Amino acid sequence: MKRFYIETFGCQMNAHDSEKVAGTLAALGYEQAVSPEEADLVLYNTCSIRDKAEQKVYSRLQQFRKGANGKRFGVLGCVAQQEGLRIFERAPHVSLVCGSASYSRLPELISELEKGNRRVTGLELDSNETFETPYTRRDNPHRAYLTIMEGCDKSCAYCVVPYTRGPERSRTRESILEEARQLAQQGWTEIQLLGQNVNSYRDPSRSDYKFADLLREVAEIPGLRRVRFTTSHPRDFGPEIVEAIDANPVLCDHVHLPVQSGSTRVLERMQRQYTREEYLRRIEWLRKARRPIAITTDVIVGFPGETEEDFQATLRLVEEVGYDSMFSFKYSPRPNTAALQLDGQVPEEEKGRRLTILQELQRSIQIRRNAELVGTVQEAAVEGYNQATGQWIGRTSQNRILNFTHPGGAGADLTGKYLRVRVTRAGPNSLAGESLDLV
Ligand code: 5AD
Ligand code: SF4
Repeated sequence: MKRFYIETFGCQMNAHDSEKVAGTLAALGYEQAVSPEEADLVLYNTCSIRDKAEQKVYSRLQQFRKGANGKRFGVLGCVAQQEGLRIFERAPHVSLVCGSASYSRLPELISELEKGNRRVTGLELDSNETFETPYTRRDNPHRAYLTIMEGCDKSCAYCVVPYTRGPERSRTRESILEEARQLAQQGWTEIQLLGQNVNSYRDPSRSDYKFADLLREVAEIPGLRRVRFTTSHPRDFGPEIVEAIDANPVLCDHVHLPVQSGSTRVLERMQRQYTREEYLRRIEWLRKARRPIAITTDVIVGFPGETEEDFQATLRLVEEVGYDSMFSFKYSPRPNTAALQLDGQVPEEEKGRRLTILQELQRSIQIRRNAELVGTVQEAAVEGYNQATGQWIGRTSQNRILNFTHPGGAGADLTGKYLRVRVTRAGPNSLAGESLDLV
């Protein structure tokens, strides 16, 4: 039996691509190995969003430079697309390099590899295709990823994604609804709709059918209890999305809306296509919803030209919005991006100082916001049991981790179920509570 191993870096799109690749390989007669040592074919599905992420794949490949024992190595994903043939130079033991826009060619590429071809590539970017396959092997039996669109047509000055994942292309409404219905029939209760710019979704055959329309239809599918989506771009985020969430509680009380900076001047240099005020208007729409919607974000500090004043504007915005959670990063210069041409690079040390200040502020906000939930009753989707703490691990509709005790303890078989939990304690990154009953 031929065996493959796959390790995934980066975002949920990548995690889901790996599920599709794993299913495709299984259909080609491969069995999945749990370690690279046991595999004939070792695949790394890579991320190049920041330099640190990119370096990880090279350090993995380095481990096998010598003594690979006839193993074959493949680099998939964003580093593959970005670096292309250069990967063969840096790591001559690699024999497959394939970007995400070419995954539908994987069966053909793998068969070339098996014929003994030393260097096989899939690097075309102009493909109109999305990677739809009947073979997806989902890792989680309760929560399923579902791709609705791929690629990105925005041109944020710092970002490699338009270059590594190609132009935006949406799947048809019919194929998405069909996949979602099948998932529900097979027992999945939560679906996470994925797209690099999920809310730019448009049915390719009906341009008046938009993301909010799709949300409403997916949420109606019998058997589904939760529907999430990521990632939204503020520019395409309209009030109709909030109205859809309001209309159906299956649509989770959470929106991830990356702001990147609180300074209009920096946003302009980033080519984000919105101002601070326009972003805050979207926050207002969300705050007026009938259910409290958690808002999370991404922020980059130290973008070229960011002054202390700009940074202070970001801190004020973060305070004003009161985000429920945040991912924050130091700007990392990326190949093929417009920001490389900008002057005013911020020294690493200063980026580090700003990041620490921002993260401390966010931590204090999270302590405050989580504390507000003590005493409330929340619905938790159960993800597993933590032996070390003796608590079950749950997640609220707002995407907060809610660890809780249950009279049945470890033997209760709760994973995948939904419970009402009374919140008794709160920390910066999670809540803790006691179970009440199944719902
Ligand atoms: N440097 C630092 N952070 C980046 N991101 C995207 N590109 C860069 C970069 N060059 C961040 C953005 C994005 C998140 C996924 O990663 O905040 O929303
Ligand atoms: Fe990383 Fe972006 Fe590629 Fe996802 S799309 S793997 S975050 S570079």
